[in-house]
Amino acid sequence: MRTLFDLELPTTYPSPAVKWLGGKSDLADQIIPLLPHDVRARRWFEPFAGGAAMFFRIQPRCAVLSDTCADLIGLYEVLQCYDLEAFGDELGILAASHRAKPREHYESIRKAFNRGGESVELGDRIHCAAHFLYLNRTGFNGLHRVNQKGKFNVPFGDVDEFRFDMPNLTQCGLVLRSAELYCESFEGVLSRAQARDVVYFDPPFHGTFTGYSGEFDERAQVRLRDVFRELDKRGVVVVLSSSDSTFIREIYQGYEVTVVRAGRAVGARGSSRGNVDELVIRGKTR
Ligand SMILES: C[S@@+](CC[C@H](N)C(=O)[O-])C[C@H]1O[C@@H](n2cnc3c(N)ncnc32)[C@H](O)[C@@H]1O
Repeated sequence: MRTLFDLELPTTYPSPAVKWLGGKSDLADQIIPLLPHDVRARRWFEPFAGGAAMFFRIQPRCAVLSDTCADLIGLYEVLQCYDLEAFGDELGILAASHRAKPREHYESIRKAFNRGGESVELGDRIHCAAHFLYLNRTGFNGLHRVNQKGKFNVPFGDVDEFRFDMPNLTQCGLVLRSAELYCESFEGVLSRAQARDVVYFDPPFHGTFTGYSGEFDERAQVRLRDVFRELDKRGVVVVLSSSDSTFIREIYQGYEVTVVRAGRAVGARGSSRGNVDELVIRGKTR
């Protein structure tokens, strides 16, 4: 039996924990009507989770979030099940040191973050997640970009204050308790999603600079289209956001396409900000 929980979207929801390129906060209200009306009652997959704006907006009963960015998934794991008081303390220390010498502090934390990485001790997990969030909030435009050696190389964003909202982060942690988290490429969804589940794909945009680790080139876009098609055939509800381009329209020919309008930053330069059309492509399973 369906309950109100299944049908009504929450009126209060946390903002995404991170600032993320291509984040869907501004578009969520246009995308939600394109999802099944009982979406909260279904299993929700976001294989390109990023800031997971749609997930936080919808707060599904049960979800699977994944992304290839290990540090992002590490932050979500900390918010989901680690000691948030200790996490808040770490953030407070970073904020105080940042205030004294913002640029120098940013650069020293970026260096430490790039040295740290692989540690899995409990204290270190909290420490790494705090550094990741700090760099996200004080780096240029909230970009996440790594060099060929996998080192985070985003320049300082000229931010005087490191601001974080602990009640919002706590709320994110509570919502994340309904989610399984994986650090993996989008193909992993093939072995997990089943009929009636909803998969929302939000890949790096075609034809724009993304700054994400690894390339998401046209071959990757075609592999993604094949995953989309396969899931659709299996009875999984598939919905995909994309930038508008001839190539994307061609590879998704035959599927229903809705144009939505975004006011977002599409590139690293301020001049490329503005209103841009995005596509929402839906499979045939509804
Ligand atoms: C446009 S962003 C998603 C934004 C997200 N919907 C939000 O609301 O913030 C795309 C995400 O895909 C991730 N990504 C890039 N290549 C990937 C791959 N092969 N498999 C899974 N995730 C990938 C990036 O790390 C990035 O977080």
